[in-house]
Amino acid sequence: MKIAVVGTGYVGLVTGTCFSETGIQVTCVDIDIKKVEKLNNGIIPIYEPGLDVLFHRNVAEGRLKFTTNLVEGIKDAQVIFLALPTPPGEDGSADLKYILKVADDLGKIMEEYAVIVDKSTVPVGTAEKVSAAIAKNAKVEFDVVSNPEFLREGVAVEDFMKPDRVVVGTRSERAKKVMEKLYAPLVRQGNPVIFMDERSAEMTKYAANSFLAMKITFMNEIANLCELAGADVDNVRKGIGTDSRIGKRFLFAGIGYGGSCFPKDVQALAKTSEEYNYDFKVLKSVMEVNEAQKTKMIPLVKKHFDGDLTGKTIAVWGLSFKPYTDDIREAPALENISILLEQGAKVIAYDPEGMENVRNYVLGNKITYAHTPYAALDEADALMIFTEWPQFRTPEFEKMALLMKSKVIFDGRNVYELDQMKELGFTYYSIGRET
Ligand code: UGA
Repeated sequence: MKIAVVGTGYVGLVTGTCFSETGIQVTCVDIDIKKVEKLNNGIIPIYEPGLDVLFHRNVAEGRLKFTTNLVEGIKDAQVIFLALPTPPGEDGSADLKYILKVADDLGKIMEEYAVIVDKSTVPVGTAEKVSAAIAKNAKVEFDVVSNPEFLREGVAVEDFMKPDRVVVGTRSERAKKVMEKLYAPLVRQGNPVIFMDERSAEMTKYAANSFLAMKITFMNEIANLCELAGADVDNVRKGIGTDSRIGKRFLFAGIGYGGSCFPKDVQALAKTSEEYNYDFKVLKSVMEVNEAQKTKMIPLVKKHFDGDLTGKTIAVWGLSFKPYTDDIREAPALENISILLEQGAKVIAYDPEGMENVRNYVLGNKITYAHTPYAALDEADALMIFTEWPQFRTPEFEKMALLMKSKVIFDGRNVYELDQMKELGFTYYSIGRET
């Protein structure tokens, strides 16, 4: 079997690499000449644990190729994945211009039947639009399938190779057979490939991400209430998470969800609701609460320093939107740092993977970047934690205390135990727990 993947962003690169690992021929196509050049030179443009091993093996064995030429890339491909960006437009709805442009091109150049797969997160009705764009010029038969991706950054390879489920939206028996064959190696352990119509598959992706964002947001609101009512959100999490109807995962309160998916997808689903004149109240609240949650520690910081942050040195641990990624899109750390700087504070940050992106694309030299977590603490008036990287969980507290000017921690991810902090003599602020 031979497939093509158009778009070598996060989803496209993982999709192409992981499918090549199943033994099929994969050609990835991208218009970005520099990126393709890098990939052809063995340089992976993203940090994703486990991807490098698969990438290098399959490139070396000739199964994984990269090109900027769409005609060459889709030649003999039975399946063509579209893994293109769908950035939010000015009104919050997903912008389909990249996908529709490629669909238009495909119609002109396809020489035999192929299944075209929407892998990107796209609004309900996109498969029909893609189909129409291809059909305008198509000389051959084709099917357009919606196959949303559920992988998480940081564990993308594992999620792709062992998916909980694969959702395929198609009403074509011919396309169904092709997709069944393609995914067979990845669902051998018995997890299902769920077939449905295209619109339901598209909605499934938005529903999944929005539900998870809502689950987190619900816990963030419980946390806010716990603070007022003298309860501990960590105990509540354990208490409710053991109910199998609720489940243990995605119940961690913190300074809000970030990343390239949840914020964008919740917003896009709200936009879709608006288009159908449906007032999706829960979704609106999720966005509103998350926005406020992201900076909820700032008033505590200000209060701690009697309203004046001028000249204070704040150490920051964690810049990426979550651990095991260098992705800083919509990362709560960035908004907080901007406010700290506006208020006159000096920021010294450390993140195992995210510092380069922050320096190159967002903050430049407005903050100082430390080489180690401890180097960030030198003469710090307080430490703020925004990402729960494992190395922050069990640091040498004595060393921290010696380095810091004052032993104050604002923990946006509830990384430490309250008793432990009390014993060590740190002034400790966290989320949804006693301070
Ligand atoms: C998310 C979904 O989990 C994937 O299934 C989906 O495929 C992906 O979006 C996508 O649409 O492409 P991702 O954005 O990589 O994946 O990250 P998550 O692990 O879901 O975390 C999202 C945010 O929620 C992070 O900021 C994280 O810190 C936060 N979070 C997560 C919490 O605040 N509490 C939790 O309990 C869990």
